[in-house]
Amino acid sequence: MTRLPLVRGFAAALVLASAVSAPTIFTTASATPTKGNPALGKPLFAKNCVVCHKADGSGGMKLTGNPTPNWKDPKTWADPKRANDDYFRDCITNGKIKSGMVAWGKSGQLKPADIENLIAFIKTFRKK
Ligand code: HEC
Repeated sequence: MTRLPLVRGFAAALVLASAVSAPTIFTTASATPTKGNPALGKPLFAKNCVVCHKADGSGGMKLTGNPTPNWKDPKTWADPKRANDDYFRDCITNGKIKSGMVAWGKSGQLKPADIENLIAFIKTFRKK
């Protein structure tokens, strides 16, 4: 009977582990354009993203897979996937692990509101 507390402890640890992992499940919001504020996204970008995406958004940094995209180039924006803000939400939330892009939302480093503000800021690199 001396082993029972150990079993209980293990069961409790399992329950705890599932509770901790639960908030990491993100549902993709509908394909609505972001209502984020680029002015609030700018300092977040400067703090977390410039090392790989460059301050001017021109990217070109290759780590392990695809390089960071050049958001200054109109050709980048001609790709229809970037017409949908859900694409950016997904990248920033879940990362692009193979290429070295961090899963900022999933890891809890950025809140959904931060991500919206970052999307709005990234879109300011687009030349009209
Ligand atoms: C360690 C380097 C690194 C950091 C730091 C980083 N990224 Fe990335 N990011 C990447 C790479 C590499 C890609 C290209 C991924 C791919 O296409 O496979 C990428 C892609 C993206 C994409 C998809 C863009 C597109 O147009 O295809 C978005 C959006 C993005 N990053 C946003 C951010 C934001 C916002 C931050 C800061 C909170 C950030 N990244 C920080 C490396 C990084």
